[in-house]
Amino acid sequence: MQNFNLSRNYATQLDFQDELASFREQFVIDDPDLLYMDGNSLGRLSKASQTRVREVLDDEWGRDLINGWNKNGWWDAPLRIGEKIAALVGAAQGQVLVSDQTSVNLFKLAASALALRAGRKQIVSDAYNFPSDLYVLQGLANLLSPSPLQGEGRVGGRAYELVTFGSRDGITPDLDELESLITEDTALVELSHVTFKSGYLFDMQKITEMVHRKGALVLWDLCHSIGATPVALDDCNADFAIGCTYKYLNGGPGAPAMLYVNKKHQADASSPIWGWWGQSDPFAFNVDYQPADGVARFATGTAPMLSLLAMESALGPALEAGLPRLRSKSLQLSEYLIRLSDEILAPLGFSLGSPRDATVRGSHVSLRHADAYRINRALIEEMKVIPDFRAPDNIRLGLAPLYTTFAEVWETVERMRIVMVEKRYEKYSGQRLKVT
Ligand SMILES: Cc1ncc(COP(=O)(O)O)c(C=O)c1O
Repeated sequence: MQNFNLSRNYATQLDFQDELASFREQFVIDDPDLLYMDGNSLGRLSKASQTRVREVLDDEWGRDLINGWNKNGWWDAPLRIGEKIAALVGAAQGQVLVSDQTSVNLFKLAASALALRAGRKQIVSDAYNFPSDLYVLQGLANLLSPSPLQGEGRVGGRAYELVTFGSRDGITPDLDELESLITEDTALVELSHVTFKSGYLFDMQKITEMVHRKGALVLWDLCHSIGATPVALDDCNADFAIGCTYKYLNGGPGAPAMLYVNKKHQADASSPIWGWWGQSDPFAFNVDYQPADGVARFATGTAPMLSLLAMESALGPALEAGLPRLRSKSLQLSEYLIRLSDEILAPLGFSLGSPRDATVRGSHVSLRHADAYRINRALIEEMKVIPDFRAPDNIRLGLAPLYTTFAEVWETVERMRIVMVEKRYEKYSGQRLKVT
């Protein structure tokens, strides 16, 4: 960051030099004074999605009714959109499908992975993983293990066990501990490529090789990397991946998720949910299930068409900008934020809750403070800054390279400074709202 200084003018210069600056115009920005720093939780609404949803409502659903499934390409949308997302995650054609939520996709793919490594009983994950991932894995281990009431379980005598590795500082995972946990009994390692709290970025290539050396399979959760961080699933020889589309891909609240099944597993992998959308010939209405070829067998039921088509349109800007440029701007934004925070916020009691080393950092930055929850409330309620709070003490600031500006980063730090020096957070209670 050349000639870095604390002036607002410096931020303006960075925006002037930003070759992605014009992408911001493709988003609905209702109030330019509102500093939206939560694109890592819910991306902004794109103008393309806004237009597309109106068109789907009025012209397709409204006029074409049920004919829309054939006429407007609704039926093929999950695979068609999967192919577009494939370009963002380094996957060749025929391996990505859009379906369900990330949590459901995790259940489906983790169950398939365990079946492909039958006999092995251990699942390894990260204690700092997104809790839903850990819950799904716990539930699956429970489901597939012998029940104390029934004696032997369906899958065999021994119970499945989920083991997790930790972190010494809550930011950087203990990779030695991860390596030591992977044994000849490990069936599956499941990790978030970028962790939700600190934003640590795992080395996908290195970890995948480490897992394969022990004969286990790896499943990557791409929620916090997809659309902001380059992902090379095929080149890393990853086995499975899942990810949401409502963060950096701007798909919209509750937009359906993606899943990836490497070609090498497709003939043998079986979904644990045999839904009709994953059937080889759904409209034959055969009573016996015959899986569709390839990744399509991981579809379950009717895809939520409004969300799906809104999300498809939202992919345009990310595909056009390309991941090298998105990553480059994302790192510049996070580097700038960290520099400003070191100078202005650290003396006010904040510490960095994300990796300082850019090579292992995703696209959000966590700033820790003992009063983080109340500060977060003050920012939202009276300062027109929207970050989010992640317990116990993290204010997360998402840097979405398609629309976050350097001036917004500068202004966010300035408003945080004001909240601290004027002690504006003191009037808020620590009582947590439902969504933080
Ligand atoms: C890393 C990670 N994994 C999984 C999920 C859960 O996604 P979903 O609600 O689509 O199941 C999230 C949601 O924010 C997440 O951040």
